[in-house]
Amino acid sequence: MEFPFNINELFHNTITKLEGQSLIKGCNPNFGIVLDLIGEASRNAQNLHRPVTSANSFISSDQILYVLTDPKRNNGNGAVLGIIKTGPKKLFLLNHKGVQHEMNLSCILDFYIHESCQRMGLGKILFDHFLKVEDFDIKRLVIDRPSNKFLAFLQKHYKLHDIIPQVNNFVIFEGFFGQEELASASNQYRSSLPNRWNSMINVNAAGDSSPFRSRGNQSSISCLFDQPTKSNENNNDLWRANSVADFSKPSLQPTVFPPQPVPTSNPTKFNHHRLW
Ligand code: ACO
Repeated sequence: MEFPFNINELFHNTITKLEGQSLIKGCNPNFGIVLDLIGEASRNAQNLHRPVTSANSFISSDQILYVLTDPKRNNGNGAVLGIIKTGPKKLFLLNHKGVQHEMNLSCILDFYIHESCQRMGLGKILFDHFLKVEDFDIKRLVIDRPSNKFLAFLQKHYKLHDIIPQVNNFVIFEGFFGQEELASASNQYRSSLPNRWNSMINVNAAGDSSPFRSRGNQSSISCLFDQPTKSNENNNDLWRANSVADFSKPSLQPTVFPPQPVPTSNPTKFNHHRLW
């Protein structure tokens, strides 16, 4: 992605780490132009209605952005090839047994390589760099609704394929719960879900043999907690609402869907009138 100015003045390395906290409003306005345009390109690639990354939501936030550039392109003015963005989230995650863990985690919110250079290994270079610099354990990966391409990427390069089903938009993989399973019960509590619910989670997990979930289709578990929408075509917005948020606004805080009984008014989903 090329710009009508020299981006090498903004990004001094092939992969540059930007911290929202250190970019203050009023900094070089070209940063804003780059962030908005790359965020828009990522939005387009993911078929989202709103960008996950924008100058407004990034600057002064507690998010981290890695920008991959090629300084030689565009007659030496440089080009942006891709981004990966993370941010902290407070999440409630279920292990296989339905035990709920409340955690503050760094999550992958946006990952994008420009269309002109996808499937050329650049995503792997950027992702590996991110893992190394952040000293990030791949097993602790938490992703805000990964696309099928991202899931294929993780399966190919990192052998991540077994998803532990969640009732929110976030995806974690087998091996995520290592120490937490053994930790004391002080900062965790057993889910109020009855055993029957837990077995339903397992049944659905087993039935979803492919980890490649369409971005337009939620897992059956997630569907239980759907908020009513005008039409299903905007599911992406609902799913990524946690990320597209401007973090400074309370209304855009992470949405956590606590376990709730299935409404009895909608008995058709599992041919049950009641779960318990
Ligand atoms: N279809 C299926 N798998 C794909 C595709 C595709 N179009 N593109 C990449 N992959 C996966 C495959 O496993 C591929 O291996 P293969 O070519 O042997 O099949 C592998 O990724 C290629 O690895 P890289 O070349 O290192 O990855 P790339 O540079 O293409 O970056 C990325 C991967 C970031 C997912 C890129 O394809 C992209 O930007 N896609 C569009 C935007 C997107 O979906 N981003 C993730 C959104 S979810 C989120 O951000 C939380």
